Amino acid sequence: MSEDYWPSYGSQSGDSKIPTIGYLDWYVPRLEENRPYNLSFSGMQYEWDVKEIMDESIYEIANHHLGSLSDPRIHVAKRENVDVENIVICHGATQALHLSICAAMAISRKETKNIAVESPCYAPIVQVPQLFNYPVSKVTRFQKEQFGPWRIDKKEWLPVIEDSAILMITPILNPSGWDYHPEDRDWIVKVCKENNVIIIADEVYLDTKREHETYAPFHSLGEHCISINSLTKVYSLGTLRFGWLISSKEIIEQARRAFFTLSGMMGSPTLRIADSIFPKLDSAIIKMKHYREKNLPLLGRMLEKMGIAWNEPPYGVFGAFELPLGIDSIDFVDNECKQFGVLAVPGSMFSPKLKSWLRVAWSIEPKIFAESLIYLEQALVLAINKKTSQ
Ligand SMILES: Cc1ncc(COP(=O)(O)O)c(C=O)c1O
Repeated sequence: MSEDYWPSYGSQSGDSKIPTIGYLDWYVPRLEENRPYNLSFSGMQYEWDVKEIMDESIYEIANHHLGSLSDPRIHVAKRENVDVENIVICHGATQALHLSICAAMAISRKETKNIAVESPCYAPIVQVPQLFNYPVSKVTRFQKEQFGPWRIDKKEWLPVIEDSAILMITPILNPSGWDYHPEDRDWIVKVCKENNVIIIADEVYLDTKREHETYAPFHSLGEHCISINSLTKVYSLGTLRFGWLISSKEIIEQARRAFFTLSGMMGSPTLRIADSIFPKLDSAIIKMKHYREKNLPLLGRMLEKMGIAWNEPPYGVFGAFELPLGIDSIDFVDNECKQFGVLAVPGSMFSPKLKSWLRVAWSIEPKIFAESLIYLEQALVLAINKKTSQ
């Protein structure tokens, strides 16, 4: 029987303890098993040759950066086509969530402190507001049709938005990999504006669709929107802890103050490595396209052979599908997948409604991806046979 690992939307029993991040409780021990066929990475696996890129400057990493390095916001400003005054640099997207909530609440004109958070989600998105004791309410995105973007139910969202100061969303949804339908996105932006709700959009996967026709970071959609991003997922540099938020100058000034209060300063090694790598970021995107071209057709064919419906996102590095016969995906990953050395992520890490969903990523080198699929297929056959013989 599986435990509950999904994000916590708060306890009704008045328990004020900080909820655990169940996802990590589950994932870290499985990662430590070093399963050879790892389809669990939500970010690109790209090896930067830091020594080559930094050359002699690598020996400077522990020296103070002030006075010798240009403002790190300039790199982000150029890439995102915004002013440096619309940017705060911080320790990854996860810290940007903290800063955004501080900033948004500081300028909110609403009486309510309620925060609406979209489900499914990465657990810190809903659990960070609870660190500040803000009440959270759930709004959901779901698979409405077999193919295409997951959709929202406006009748469910409207009263929650009306009663909230902040809305927190992940445009490229984890685990489906789909961005909003443009009609849903435009409606969210408009209704939040009308209701004085500040939108915090965690866009760590958005750069996978920079060249797509519907690419639109939330900061470009209104002064009431905050975009969060980092070098973690698309650029494979989570170890650096380099992230940023982009919004109106009014919101950014509050976020800057929050950053000084919580962190003081970025680390010199982080800033120096990021400074060298920023001009080369597109090479990770080129590699991602190569992985998509090589890996996705294989995945599509395998799922078709197994008779499993596959709603492939036209961008990104992961997607999710529903296992047949209501197979529980935690049991599947812990038993059949483990037997064949495969690791993938159960949907219940993101929502209790996704218990029989499995997230697979194609962010790894094609040869190992092809081998991983052979073993994933064998694990699926075994699980289906077990279920049908019960
Ligand atoms: C939606 C989302 N946001 C943020 C992160 C973490 O980003 P960072 O390493 O920049 O804190 C993750 C990692 O899984 C994620 O899925």
